[in-house]
Amino acid sequence: MPNLRQLYLQHVGQTSDFSLAFEVEKAEGVFLYDTKGKKYFDLNSGISVSSLGHGNPRIKAAIKDQLEKHLHTMVYGEHVQQSQVQFATLLMQQLPDKYQSLYFLLTGSEAIETAMKLAKKRTNRRQIIAAKDAYHGSTQGAESLRSDENYKRAFYPLLPAIDWITFNKEEELELITDQTAAVIIEATQAESGVNTAHNGYLQALQNRCEQTGTLFILDEIQTGFGRTGSLFAFQKYGLSPDVICIGKAMGGGLPLSGLIASQECLSFLMKDPALGHITTFGGHPLSCAAAHASLQYMLDHKIVDKVEEKSALFNQLLQHNIVREVRRDGLLMAVELTKRKYLKHVVSKAHELGAIIDYFLFNDKSFRLAPPLVISFEEIKKACHILQQAFDYSFEKYNH
Ligand SMILES: Cc1ncc(COP(=O)(O)O)c(C=O)c1O
Repeated sequence: MPNLRQLYLQHVGQTSDFSLAFEVEKAEGVFLYDTKGKKYFDLNSGISVSSLGHGNPRIKAAIKDQLEKHLHTMVYGEHVQQSQVQFATLLMQQLPDKYQSLYFLLTGSEAIETAMKLAKKRTNRRQIIAAKDAYHGSTQGAESLRSDENYKRAFYPLLPAIDWITFNKEEELELITDQTAAVIIEATQAESGVNTAHNGYLQALQNRCEQTGTLFILDEIQTGFGRTGSLFAFQKYGLSPDVICIGKAMGGGLPLSGLIASQECLSFLMKDPALGHITTFGGHPLSCAAAHASLQYMLDHKIVDKVEEKSALFNQLLQHNIVREVRRDGLLMAVELTKRKYLKHVVSKAHELGAIIDYFLFNDKSFRLAPPLVISFEEIKKACHILQQAFDYSFEKYNH
């Protein structure tokens, strides 16, 4: 009789031949438990999703409540569903007046796709500019924004008229012209290993977009919902993007994404042609109920207020002679090691000792830390103690 792992490898489509193949039994608070009952710190929140940790009772209650009322009733945009309206209203109340409307979608990639369609329609232009070394999703439009030609070649033809600027290079902002439909960028580049913006860069980018009539689309799929120490990164950096893409932590652990913009801007998806982007499961009632409970919990418990302090504690406790630097934007953090070869040993030793950390897509010297925002100061100390042991082990064994 094959075991669970063998059945997984046989019947579940694999994304690589180096799957973590971690066997999850349950998850609670900031911990994951494997099928042998071993407990691990979840220091990645399933890539910035489980910001309130696992099994939050308010989110669970909201899901159960919604489950009793109804699940899917109609494709997005046709029925008035209470959980959708409640969540959109609560979210808009937290944002500047300019943002009145939330277009519900399902995944981060779909949010990026829809934002690109919206930009073309709104500006009647075709060129889209992204930053090098950014990840915006795996569907063909979102993948077209990836700058690494070698990776993308296997999927050609992708979208034409995509160009790139180097993040933080103000002199390249001139590439944004009155031919550019949109710039799509993150406030902090997550997958290149937490590459934060220099002072004034994003503001200069926003000004250039204003001058040229280009839509400024901010990808807050990873930075949103408190991850960087304010509800959204744009608020912290004093920005006013035209469109904000959200996803990941939005659904409190269920799939949900969307575009935030003015009603006027989003109206371009509803006319000439109508139904400019339709989606069966966008704004699923169960996800919206979880999203509403999650946001309400964040607000009631002022979760974002402690993010910077927690991030500073990680920084302090992660100093070691194999750590070159800790780059961080709130609890989105990258720990860069002095030598590339240490990385896999640190990741596997930490796992063995009970802490789950992960790699980045575009940085092979750093590991990712994006713990649930609710991690306590005591838990941070314990988790960092494990990471210190993994650093010591890797240094002693592989420093030659
Ligand atoms: C910044 C950013 N944008 C977009 C995406 C794509 O989101 P999804 O995987 O939900 O399609 C991701 C996913 O990692 C992301 O980090």
